[in-house]
Amino acid sequence: PSVKAQAGIGGNNPRTTLLIDKHRSYIKSLDKDTQSLDYMMTEHLRMSGVYWGLTTMNILGSLGEMDEKKVIDWVLKCQHPCGGFGGNVDHDPHILYTLSAIQILALYDKLHLLDADQIAAYISGLQLADGSFVGDEWGEVDTRFSYCAISCLSLLGRLDKIDVDRAAAYIASCKNFDGGFGCTPGGESHAGQIFCCVGALAIAGALHYVDADLLGWWLCERQVKSGGLNGRPEKLPDVCYSWWVLSSLVILDRVHWLDKDRLKAFILSCQDEERGGISDRPDDMVDVFHTFFGVAGLSLLEYPGLKHIDPAYALPVEVVQRVLSRQRQTP
Ligand code: FPP
Ligand code: ZN
Repeated sequence: PSVKAQAGIGGNNPRTTLLIDKHRSYIKSLDKDTQSLDYMMTEHLRMSGVYWGLTTMNILGSLGEMDEKKVIDWVLKCQHPCGGFGGNVDHDPHILYTLSAIQILALYDKLHLLDADQIAAYISGLQLADGSFVGDEWGEVDTRFSYCAISCLSLLGRLDKIDVDRAAAYIASCKNFDGGFGCTPGGESHAGQIFCCVGALAIAGALHYVDADLLGWWLCERQVKSGGLNGRPEKLPDVCYSWWVLSSLVILDRVHWLDKDRLKAFILSCQDEERGGISDRPDDMVDVFHTFFGVAGLSLLEYPGLKHIDPAYALPVEVVQRVLSRQRQTP
């Protein structure tokens, strides 16, 4: 362990509490840094990066500190005539960025700015006869895209525009002997993919396809000595798996199978106490992805002062409730 980590056991170690103000200023600083190499390297991920940053701010109770108008104008500029969204202005549409765009608009209660039928037609055009989904015109099939399709359409109130039964049956065909799920039938179980499959089945009302005890056991076996979680057997722990693993355990009501206090301590130990932000492992470089998954994981663990996040939609519970209740008012 590093000198910092060794020095920080007990006492008034700043890494034993969530440094909320630091994380707020870290997220706000990302916007100004458009000349940095990091920015250029992740430019294609902008839409997802903005979703991670804004959802973190919402969970911290500070979404109002971000420039709403600038965000909404930019998101709408990333939409193509086909209905899909790119990762940035002039980037090709993809279902991953379409989900992030819809999530951002949901955070700001601005879904009415979208033509839900147009986007639903784009998404239903990505479904294949076996129920699976491709992500874009290049035709790669992956259960990640099944999740994106189901989450998008549910948030838009348009699940009836795809064959949900076939979509769920395809996801079930990606289930393995260990209870986990892979990207395609026969693909190795991986916690990220398990989140997608369990989350999609939860939204689709098809959790009967999941063997909750078998999968719950595989998921809680992901906790290692440091308290962190890995994504597959023999891999290193990583803060993002606090989300992929924990969200699935919450959906399956098996979270008490983990040592929650040790997981909390692991996430907190990955904070940068000077600049703010959270990294994958203690003392690594922070990024917005791991900052989101760390804070979201702590929210699932009911860390005090954080808004609750929905484990299937990966959006604040109050946002999901607002979206679904608006659909009941205007079907
Ligand atoms: C692991 O990524 C994660 C996955 C495979 C799941 C990704 C899920 C989505 C993109 C759906 C949208 C997500 C949310 C939260 C709304 P990795 O490439 O880091 O895996 P590795 O650790 O094996 O490299
Ligand atoms: Zn990670």
